[in-house]
Amino acid sequence: MKRHLISAADLTRDDALLVLDTAEEMARVADRPIKKLPTLRGRTVVNLFFEDSTRTRISFEAAAKRLSADVINFSAKGSSVSKGESLKDTALTLEAMGADAVVVRHHASGAPQRLATSGWINASVVNAGDGTHEHPTQALLDAFTMRRHLSGVGRDLAGRRVTIVGDILHSRVARSNVLLLNTLGAEVTLVAPPTLLPIGVEQWPCQVGYDLDAVLAKSDAVMMLRVQRERMNAAFFPTEREYSRRYGLDGGRMAVLPEHAIVMHPGPMNRGMEITAEVADSPRCTAVEQVANGVSTRMAVLYLLLGGSEPALATARAEEPRPEEPRADDARPDDVPTEAARTEESK
Ligand code: NCD
Repeated sequence: MKRHLISAADLTRDDALLVLDTAEEMARVADRPIKKLPTLRGRTVVNLFFEDSTRTRISFEAAAKRLSADVINFSAKGSSVSKGESLKDTALTLEAMGADAVVVRHHASGAPQRLATSGWINASVVNAGDGTHEHPTQALLDAFTMRRHLSGVGRDLAGRRVTIVGDILHSRVARSNVLLLNTLGAEVTLVAPPTLLPIGVEQWPCQVGYDLDAVLAKSDAVMMLRVQRERMNAAFFPTEREYSRRYGLDGGRMAVLPEHAIVMHPGPMNRGMEITAEVADSPRCTAVEQVANGVSTRMAVLYLLLGGSEPALATARAEEPRPEEPRADDARPDDVPTEAARTEESK
């Protein structure tokens, strides 16, 4: 794996499968009474959030804490950024704090790339969403969720048909998903009004359509996207009613999906706009499960970027506890098979 995770395109098929398989191991930690591994003890993870976030921020925080890293949460509101401090000076401050990883969300597309290549910091940079550009860990947690439902652990998503619907133009989730799903062999179709498709979309590795009803019966997963009003400076569709009539998912449309198909949403949802409450609350909707899977996936990403060449749980076991503190993973560390043990089992 590369040292930074800026784009879903940074991941080869093998890298992506390594993250997803490691995330499966991490998910088992979530089932324990003590949800903690000592793997990143003594490492510092900074969550640098220049833009609002609920799920992504708390998910990265939970992930770093479950790996026993020291976590510093930095939000631009209430910091010296609101006094005009630049990204460079903020980065130099983080470097002085000894950050090993910086998780950055920024309203400007390209900010994480700048941080990673500027030489201002030595830390690994993880893009947690930059403008309308990319959100690679969301794509990973979405792939993790799809794999569990559609193809099975250990597999890729070859031949699975994924439909992504709505505000593609402003969605970093859509772009990262298209790239990663293509790497994993899935067939992606984007469905949106022409005004909400980005210029150059015909070069993306996917199909593009305008008629949701035409693709539902052929979809294994349908991902509904939020209409991002905060990024809209013009009228992109006539009325909300018109939008939801043509591009919203309601009970009637959900009934057309194949029986095994899932409905996904990265959150936050606009209930009544792109998705009805009936669909959002139905057992086929994986929105809440995606949040839980986000923690396991981000644990895997942080672990692999911060030097995990061995299986995470083997490293955890090898580490000696300090005398003054109990082992963080003393809740049955041995019942979780390592990568090596699982390979052995499957022979
Ligand atoms: C998305 C984001 O911020 O890009 N949400 C998320 O990370 N869970 C999508 C959105 O804001 O609609």
